[in-house]
Amino acid sequence: MIIAIDGPAGSGKSTVAKLVARRLGFLYIDTGAMYRSLTLKAMQDKLNLNDEKVLIDMAKNTKIELNPKAAAIRTPEVTNNISYIANVPGVRSEMVKWQRAFGYKSKKGAVLEGRDIGTVVFPDAERKFYLDASVTERARRRFKELKEKGMKINLGQIEEDIRIRDKKDKTRPVGALKKAKDAVLIDTTELTIEQAVEKVLSYIKY
Ligand code: DC
Repeated sequence: MIIAIDGPAGSGKSTVAKLVARRLGFLYIDTGAMYRSLTLKAMQDKLNLNDEKVLIDMAKNTKIELNPKAAAIRTPEVTNNISYIANVPGVRSEMVKWQRAFGYKSKKGAVLEGRDIGTVVFPDAERKFYLDASVTERARRRFKELKEKGMKINLGQIEEDIRIRDKKDKTRPVGALKKAKDAVLIDTTELTIEQAVEKVLSYIKY
């Protein structure tokens, strides 16, 4: 069984996807981490981020492994450069191949989270969810997370960053963030993590 969870940054989809996968004994696949890893690699290798051919070659020659502890891919520098990578159709098609392979490899099933899982990667997924929340609430969550890490940050700036990322994610020429027609929309603005997890699980009866 393939479960697709899409949604914008801060909608809670990563935490919810991880917990749903754990509850079901399914494989958890964070597809954003793949785009982040490629971005980090391109930055470390000092590749020209405007040269699509170079980026596609890199994507073709990169072996992707799932590693839950890779913190270096979550820095603001990586986040700010992701669009150079995620906007290239030839790069995305390589990532989609990995994502499908990981999904099919899972014995019991897999929970994949990202932006285009229900629309592009697994259009035939047995269950599709689109998690969303208000911009204010998503900024508040991010603010709390960063503050707990001891970072000095400004809530207004975070909200602005989220709006910019939403725009980039929703207007990407390929693989744009979009709710699949047959996805269940879950607004997590007023939900706790546990409530969101239960809500998703309530649609997965098998
Ligand atoms: O889920 P995340 O915030 O870690 O994802 C980081 C970026 O990667 C996101 O802003 C857009 C890109 N991404 C994508 O283009 N397609 C996906 N399936 C997942 C992420």
